[in-house]
Amino acid sequence: MVMKRKVALVTGAATGIGASLASALAEAGLRVFGADIAWDPATESKSYEQVHCDVADAKSVQECVDRIEEEAGGVDVLVNNAAMATELSPRPFDQLTPEEWTRVLTVNTLSQFLCCKAVVPHMRRKRWGRIINLTSATVFAGTPYMLHYIASKGAIVAMTRSLGAELGPDGITVNAIAPGLTETAGIQRNDAYSDEMKAGVIASRAIARAERAEDLVGTCLFLAGEGARFITGQIVVVDGGATFH
Ligand SMILES: NC(=O)c1ccc[n+]([C@@H]2O[C@H](COP(=O)([O-])OP(=O)(O)OC[C@H]3O[C@@H](n4cnc5c(N)ncnc54)[C@H](O)[C@@H]3O)[C@@H](O)[C@H]2O)c1
Repeated sequence: MVMKRKVALVTGAATGIGASLASALAEAGLRVFGADIAWDPATESKSYEQVHCDVADAKSVQECVDRIEEEAGGVDVLVNNAAMATELSPRPFDQLTPEEWTRVLTVNTLSQFLCCKAVVPHMRRKRWGRIINLTSATVFAGTPYMLHYIASKGAIVAMTRSLGAELGPDGITVNAIAPGLTETAGIQRNDAYSDEMKAGVIASRAIARAERAEDLVGTCLFLAGEGARFITGQIVVVDGGATFH
């Protein structure tokens, strides 16, 4: 079970998977801060606090974590979820520009490094911490036409393993969740998400239905809780049985 009185920071919590995970952690009794650059007053959540934070910017991340330290004593559970994902359109790799490549890698991968760096001093002092990174099952499927995105998510697999090894002696676990294609509002807005694509994705699964953000909640709560204390550096694929990793 997730421990009460812990403090969580969920990045990219304004919508989609991040919003579901932040709500679930709050419901489980944690004090939750959501960090995002795009809060929508219309979807304001009552269950977690909203912080404006650009996770790709070191100063912004440090200010966010400092504020949480002041208000709540520090981040015990970090969910590195923010990413450029649903707004990306599949394209052949040679049509991507170096600028697009750098931006996606910065927002998706540098951000997780920055957030880990900012929260780990508090976790080390407490000798307890949980870091949960969002990667993607696409890394294991060899999905084409998203090379910058796949590279960023592949890096997160490597970072999860390496940081898990590095932080184990401090009582901090580092694990990742690898969702399959998840029908968030962002995915539904993406022009590439056609009925044909949806049918193909569903047909590829042992559990043949669309994946929803709520399908990721149980894994996140488990990894954040005491029951997962001896699990680190692992990638949990949650995709209805399409990818066997
Ligand atoms: N939806 C899927 O099919 C799917 C599949 C596999 C993995 N994932 C991963 O799950 C995570 C969430 O996906 P989603 O579908 O909810 O995405 P989404 O696009 O719906 O939400 C992403 C959130 O991150 C925020 N964000 C983007 N850049 C930011 C920045 N610089 N600073 C702060 N916040 C920023 C956005 O404002 C948004 O609220 C991502 O890491 C994504 O790669 C998603």
